[in-house]
Amino acid sequence: MSITIRQLHPLFAGEVSGIDLRRPMSAAEVAAVEAGMDQFAVLVFHGQDITDEQQVAFSRNFGKIEQAVGSNVTKPEDRRLSLDIADVSNLDKDNKVLARDDRQRMFNLGNRLWHSDSSFRAVPAKYSLLSGRVVVTDGGNTEFADMRAAYDALPEATKAEIEGLVCEHSLLYSRGSMGFGPFTAEELVTFKPVRQRLVRTHPVTGRKSLYLSSHIGTIVGWPMPEARDFIRELAEHATQRRFVHAHQWRQHDLVIWDNRQLMHRVRPFDETKVRDMRRTTIQGEAPTVAQQEAA
Ligand SMILES: [Fe+2]
Repeated sequence: MSITIRQLHPLFAGEVSGIDLRRPMSAAEVAAVEAGMDQFAVLVFHGQDITDEQQVAFSRNFGKIEQAVGSNVTKPEDRRLSLDIADVSNLDKDNKVLARDDRQRMFNLGNRLWHSDSSFRAVPAKYSLLSGRVVVTDGGNTEFADMRAAYDALPEATKAEIEGLVCEHSLLYSRGSMGFGPFTAEELVTFKPVRQRLVRTHPVTGRKSLYLSSHIGTIVGWPMPEARDFIRELAEHATQRRFVHAHQWRQHDLVIWDNRQLMHRVRPFDETKVRDMRRTTIQGEAPTVAQQEAA
């Protein structure tokens, strides 16, 4: 069986058939998925009943797996899953639904803001691979916004204005914007802002895209309120419905998205229900801009 991809949205997103992710992939299959990712930026694979080990093995076809450290407030002894996997569930280490006022849960609510995974790391993420082990069907959609199309639709004057801009990204900013806190002294160090270009160029297709994320707190050299207003305006533009595809989860879906080309967010759902989602994340190849020590 060969891989086929059906486009799901006028601009992007594809549904893949003809592949079993539990089996080792041939070089041709890996190349077909990569090519599909370059074009569609998000790919949906239905009916993939995989284990953590199978997810990790499949993910390694696309690069190095980012370790799930420095990206949450979960204490090491409270982790439910291995460090190869980001726990995007609403569960504690005993597989119980997190309490409403649980710090982990409140921190994870930040995933409902439009963002790009790991934009708060100096070397940000390439792909995210999210496996729906136990899904909710009433709410809990993952929405994707095409940052290439959003860039293309900007006025030429705006494109010129933003071309060389550099933003500071941090979990302190995204979580702070929701009123989460206070942060511990250790978290303040771990979540120190990093710099990212506002306009990225895809290494394979050469397409430009807006590198937006709720993790952005300022633009280098700008007054912070002006930067936040400007970024909010760009984000409103970039998340218009015409740029957005909503994925409604089915049991055992695996969805891959390219964080270099998209933003995403999860939508609300009934949190008394179990939602067990597990993410592997592929590291990007390099920073988008040189880092500087914070003054
Ligand atoms: Fe995310």
